[in-house]
Amino acid sequence: MKPVLDGTVALVTGASSGIGAATAAALAGHGAAVALAARRTGRLEEVAASIREQGGTALVLESDITDEQQAAGAVERTVSELGRLDTLINNAGVMLLGPAASAPLAEWQRMVDLNVLGLLFCAHAAVPHLLRAAADGPRRVADMVNISSVAGRTARNGSGVYNLTKHGVGAFSESLRQELATRYVRVSLVEPGATATELASHNRPEVLDAIRSQFGQRMEAEDIADAISYIVTRPRHVAVNEMLIRPTEQER
Ligand SMILES: NC(=O)c1ccc[n+]([C@@H]2O[C@H](COP(=O)([O-])OP(=O)(O)OC[C@H]3O[C@@H](n4cnc5c(N)ncnc54)[C@H](OP(=O)(O)O)[C@@H]3O)[C@@H](O)[C@H]2O)c1
Repeated sequence: MKPVLDGTVALVTGASSGIGAATAAALAGHGAAVALAARRTGRLEEVAASIREQGGTALVLESDITDEQQAAGAVERTVSELGRLDTLINNAGVMLLGPAASAPLAEWQRMVDLNVLGLLFCAHAAVPHLLRAAADGPRRVADMVNISSVAGRTARNGSGVYNLTKHGVGAFSESLRQELATRYVRVSLVEPGATATELASHNRPEVLDAIRSQFGQRMEAEDIADAISYIVTRPRHVAVNEMLIRPTEQER
C-alpha cells in the first residue's frame, strides 16, 4: 500500500531542530516530499541527509522567515523545486521569558517578529498553493498546522509576550480555519506542553536559572511530530481543529 502522503509536498518551518526536525522526518516517513526551512543550513542538511537515507525527498531552504521576502521565497522555492504545496507546518518559534518590568524590548520584538509575523508571512504566501492542492491535489485536501503552546491558552506571570504571540496564533488559526474550511484547506492548532528541545536555551542565563526549577517531565519532539502526523493524515472529511498535548505529569 502507498504511504498516505505519497505524492504530496510539505514545508516545515524551524526544521533545523526540535519539533520541526522531528516533524519533517515523520512526514517524510508518511511519504511526503519535505522542504526544510530555518537559518542554520548545516543542521538542515543533517535532517535532510537522514530523510534521504530512509529513501525520502528533502529540500533544504536557508531562510529567516522574519523577513517577508525570505518567508515567501521559502514557499515559492518549495513549489518550484518540489512541484506543489499540500502541507504547511508553521512551527518556527522562540520563547524568551522573564519579568516584563525589566525585559529587553529586543526580546519582545524577536518573539513578535518570528512567532507572529514570520508565521503570517508563511501563511500568506502558502494559502493560494494550499487552495490549489485542495482543489486538484492527490488527496483533494490541504493542511496548515500552526504550532501554538499551552501558553496560547493560559497566560502566566513571566511569560506575557510569549503568551501574547501564542494566543494570537490561536485566534488567527481559528479565523482562517473558518475562512478556508469549505474549500478543504484544514487549519489546525497544536498546543504542546513542555517538550525537550532547544527552545528554553535561548533565554538569558538569569532567566534560565529561574525557570530551570520549573522543568518537570517533558515530552520528546517525536511525540509532537506524531500528533502533527495524525492531523495531516486524516481522511478528507475529518479535520482535527485543535490539539492540546501535555506531558502526563504537567498540571498547568
Ligand atoms: N519545546 C517546548 O516545550 C514547546 C512547547 C510549546 C510550544 N512549542 C513551540 O514549538 C515550536 C518549535 O520549537 P522547539 O521547541 O522545537 O524549539 P527549537 O528546537 O528551539 O526550534 C525552533 C526552530 O525555529 C527556528 N527558527 C528560529 N528563528 C528562525 C527564523 N528567524 N527563521 C526561520 N526559522 C527560525 C530554529 O532554527 P534556526 O535557529 O536554524 O533558524 C529552530 O529550527 C515553537 O513555535 C515553540 O514555541 C515548544
